[in-house]
Amino acid sequence: MIGSANGTRVGITGLGVCVPERVVTNDDLARHVDTSDEWIVERTGIHERRMIAEDQALTDIALPAAQAALQDARIGEGDVDLIICATVTPDMMFPTASALIADSLGARDAAAYDLLAGCTGFMYAVAQAYGMLAAGLSRRALVIGGDVLSSILDWTDRSTLVLFGDGAGAVVMEPVGHGGFLGFELGADGGGGVHLQLPGSGSRKFESPESMLRMNGREVYKFATRVMVSSAEAVLAECGRTIDEVDVYVPHQANKRIIDHAVGKLGVPPERTVVNVDRFGNTSSGSIPLALADARADGRLRDGALVLMTGMGAGLTWGSALLEWTDRRSA
Ligand code: UT7
Repeated sequence: MIGSANGTRVGITGLGVCVPERVVTNDDLARHVDTSDEWIVERTGIHERRMIAEDQALTDIALPAAQAALQDARIGEGDVDLIICATVTPDMMFPTASALIADSLGARDAAAYDLLAGCTGFMYAVAQAYGMLAAGLSRRALVIGGDVLSSILDWTDRSTLVLFGDGAGAVVMEPVGHGGFLGFELGADGGGGVHLQLPGSGSRKFESPESMLRMNGREVYKFATRVMVSSAEAVLAECGRTIDEVDVYVPHQANKRIIDHAVGKLGVPPERTVVNVDRFGNTSSGSIPLALADARADGRLRDGALVLMTGMGAGLTWGSALLEWTDRRSA
């Protein structure tokens, strides 16, 4: 699916993030599996990640991220009519994380649902919210992307254990006077889905009773390096913009090598690229909002800045969005 915005301008007017307090280093993981800090840093660029405590679940980090986004947008807790939570690790299948968050916020008039698109979930969710806002169905939306992949990792599998972390981010989206989303490109390839799956997590029976993440890293790597480039190029072309015009490039934070490959192929200057995979690992749906928050903390999200975001992950899925940043003080 590809399309450029027409009609109502819809932008991001609030941004908040939350990561668990517990820092897990590469050396910590080397106590569980046969790995080393050297291997992990060289092959992935990851130095550490955050993981929730035993008694926590997704909404323990997604709710604070949502509250921070609402506060950033300077609106009341109940002042949204649409809540989408992109995640593959809700507290449970139902009630949904979004319904639980709506209840905690007191957002009684809000439609609330979870969205499942692997690590691309946040990109799919902002595209959906954009559509509902532009069509006038929603007045103001809260879009959350978050995962606690630590809860579905196999702690005996070194090829996946070292890659992932927990984290959540949220944005408030609403009509704005200038700037806003310019276009989206989203896609899925279920044929490649077998390379990154969570067997036993749904209605199909598997031999193993346990539901843990399984990945063919080499195949996902090939897929990732391809779509990170093709999706970004597609959305730029659709919107009539070029890579030279992009001020802030926000790629999914899965592996520094995948990011470097995309940066090289696209021709984005490295200084315009946001990288935080070293501190958080791959936080799935939390990845892009966490990177957006870092870009803002660095002062890079100036009013009018052209922001290119691309996610990819399980499904297999991918998605890009092009956005002209709207400083909330001038929204
Ligand atoms: O959101 C999307 C999610 N996933 C991704 O984006 C992941 C995409 N894939 C990757 O990032 C990379 O394929 C990995 C980081 C997963 C693996 O890197 P690689 O350079 O492709 O390594 P490899 O799979 O080719 O494995 C090389 C060797 C293997 O040993 P042998 O067979 O050569 O003896 C692995 O068993 O490295 C071994 N290995 C490890 N060694 C130490 C795999 N994991 C580890 C580890 N520590 N944690």
